[in-house]
This record gives sequence, C-alpha cells and structure tokens, in this order.
Amino acid sequence: MSIDLFRSPTEVKQWRYRQKDLSVGFVPTMGALHEGHLSLVERSMRENDKTVVSIFVNPTQFNDPKDLKAYPTQLETDLELLKALEVDLVFSPEEKDVYPDSYRFKLSENQDSKLLCGADREGHFDGVLTVVMKLFHIVNPTHAYFGEKDYQQLSLISDMAKAFFMDVKVVGCPTFRSREGLALSSRNERLSTQARAKAPNFAKILQSAPSIDEARAELDAQGFEVVYLDQLWNRRFGAVKLEDVRLIDNVAL
Ligand code: PAF
Repeated sequence: MSIDLFRSPTEVKQWRYRQKDLSVGFVPTMGALHEGHLSLVERSMRENDKTVVSIFVNPTQFNDPKDLKAYPTQLETDLELLKALEVDLVFSPEEKDVYPDSYRFKLSENQDSKLLCGADREGHFDGVLTVVMKLFHIVNPTHAYFGEKDYQQLSLISDMAKAFFMDVKVVGCPTFRSREGLALSSRNERLSTQARAKAPNFAKILQSAPSIDEARAELDAQGFEVVYLDQLWNRRFGAVKLEDVRLIDNVAL
C-alpha cells in the first residue's frame, strides 16, 4: 500500500473537505520519528476515523540557527514508518507554503510562554503557536495529539485552542521513555554512546531528588549543564545540556 504524501496546504484542505463528518486525528511533528511519535499516531488511529501526520521542521521556533541546522531529518525513513502504520495522510510542506507571508503575522502569548523553555529561547513559543495554528487551519482536525515530554508546549497549545474557540480537542499523551527511563526525543540521536548511557540519569534525578537545589547539585556532579530547573503546575521541570545537546523533561510531583 502506498501512502498519500501531500506538499501543499490546498491539497490537504481539499482532502479534508472530502472527509466531511469523519473524525480526523492530527499528529504534528518535525520528523525524525521515534517510538514516542509513533505511539501518538497509534493513539490517534485508535480514536479517529482518519489520521494525518505533518512533518515540517519549523524554522520560526528555533532561536539558534546552529540548532536548526543540526536538527535531524530523514523523510524517507519517516514515510516508511508511517506507511507501515497505514496512516491516511502525511503533510510535509515547504517553508514558503507554510509562511507565504514570511512570518509577517504571528501569534504570541504573554504569560506561560515566557517561563521555562521560553526564558532562554526567545520567540520559541511564538513560533510553535503560530505554526500549530496554521497547521490546525489547514488540517482542521477534530483531535490533535501532543506528548507530555513537551508539557509547556502542550499546555500552551491547549490554552490557545480554547482562547481562539477552535473546534479541536487537544489530547496530551504520557511521555514515552526508553527502558532506562530517558524521554524519547529526536535530539537523542545526536548523543554519543557515552552520553546516551548517562542521559537517563537526568530523569532519575528529576524524579527522586528531594528538592530543586539537590537535583541541581546532583546533575552538576554528574556533568550535566543545567539550563533550568523549576517547579510549577504541580510538576518538576528541567532542561539540561549534554555534549551541547539540549534535553528537556518533566515529572508530576
Ligand atoms: O513538538 C514538536 O515537534 C513541534 O514543536 C511541533 C508541535 C510539531 C510544532 O512545530
């Protein structure tokens, strides 16, 4: 069976129009798919008549051009994985199709987006919210699936959908972890074998340290560069760098 790969927003809109009253689940991604993404896709397929996956490395959410350049891409492999799951449609647009306005218009949030990942990544969540809003308008899903690893992103997107009266149910899904406890992320690909062996300690320390200060001391001692550690919304959040690769995670308190 082949997979429908659409490049233009118009094609996707026409496809959506033909689905009429069917439920459409949507999983937005930046590609380099791993088991975490695939678990979101499987859930969407269980809960909806049709499932759409988008693959688009969104430039406006990268505040560091080096980070954008280093972001892994593997479209052919991703398509094979999605074909094996029998996903209905993959939307992989080019930048000019998503940003015909060259980012003249954008969406910003002035509160939670300034905390945690937003504090040291200027404009990151403006980029995320703008692209997700655009993708929602193109795909017009009934349900959209996001992982809790990016809890702040999930919460902002959910609030955005409510704020703009959008007819989409934003569904948060538990973080998918390796057997050792590392939250799966496309960025993990860039870790060396030694760093990959050490990386699961980040989640363990986040989970078990009695306080933020003790978590910081333990992470420092183990050679993680702490970007932030914080507690809010009844959760503990952290971002660290290992070999210049940024890892984020969060756990319920
Ligand atoms: O989580 C991601 O991969 C991205 O932030 C998203 C939601 C696909 C927007 O580009």
